Amino acid sequence: MAYRHQPVLLAEVLEQLRTTSRSIVVDCTLGGAGHAEAILSQLPPSGILIGIDQDVAAISEAEVRTARFGQQITIVRDNFRNLERILTDAGVEEVDGVLFDLGVSSAQLDAAERGFSYWHDSRLDMRMNPQAKLSAIDVVNTYSCERIAQVLREYGEERWASRIAEFICRSREQAPIETTAQLAQIVRDAIPASARRSGPHPARRTFQALRIEVNDELNAIATTLPIAVQRLAKGGRIVVISYHSLEDRIVKQAFTRLAQGCICPPKVPQCQCGRTPQLKILTRRPIRPTAAEIANNPRARSAKLRAAERV
Ligand SMILES: C[S@@+](CC[C@H](N)C(=O)[O-])C[C@H]1O[C@@H](n2cnc3c(N)ncnc32)[C@H](O)[C@@H]1O
Repeated sequence: MAYRHQPVLLAEVLEQLRTTSRSIVVDCTLGGAGHAEAILSQLPPSGILIGIDQDVAAISEAEVRTARFGQQITIVRDNFRNLERILTDAGVEEVDGVLFDLGVSSAQLDAAERGFSYWHDSRLDMRMNPQAKLSAIDVVNTYSCERIAQVLREYGEERWASRIAEFICRSREQAPIETTAQLAQIVRDAIPASARRSGPHPARRTFQALRIEVNDELNAIATTLPIAVQRLAKGGRIVVISYHSLEDRIVKQAFTRLAQGCICPPKVPQCQCGRTPQLKILTRRPIRPTAAEIANNPRARSAKLRAAERV
């Protein structure tokens, strides 16, 4: 199947990263290289881009799409949480720009066999890295009921979390839950009809929660943001696009913390903590896609872009 993914907030990413004057940019979520290709096209001839993704299919697409840039691009298949090591291995001390375009790509969602979506019936999988040990089948069939409910509550903000977990556990006593259609039906059965009538697909929150758990998405971003900022050169910029409130909260809080200077109590005459701001926040409010972009690419509708500059 062709790899299809339209880069979100592309012009805004290029503007915030100021790509025309950069030497080294890291795209931590390379995907099919939609953003990366545009960044490479704007970099000066001496500029390079390091692209990271944990998905082999994305890497293959990115390699083809960026082949014409030759030595200007280095592609690394890894989890971005290993950013520190990846940069050290590449012999890079400081970078001028870092991009995170979080979550899954349209290509991953649309590839039925990847088991990310309730729109296709296939084996429940949801691993961005197909070599990772934990898949969604393991979560629904081996986690305790309480833990499943917790995952659905925390990562899906699902108000019916306990009930859905109960239905999952009851169903797996009969037979293992192995497909996306089976799981979608269990969720549908668990949510009362009155609550199902309006809004998005009833399984949306459950699928989101399982995907986040399987790929440990929130911990990955929370641990990597400070590392990325530490590796930014003075004046370098970090740009993050998130797609749901849990991600956006982590980005907002990390930026706020890193932009904070001294945290000593006001009574202390001289600073004891020694903290100085590492970041200047460039987007007090997140940048959102225009109505035209959303009409053209509905998957952009929940995107929020936050940017900050190393000081
Ligand atoms: C929204 S897509 C990026 C699309 C890309 N910006 C483009 O325009 O083609 C997110 C990509 O990040 C990758 N990804 C997500 N979390 C990751 C992580 N922790 N480490 C490495 N790659 C990750 C996914 O595999 C996916 O390909």
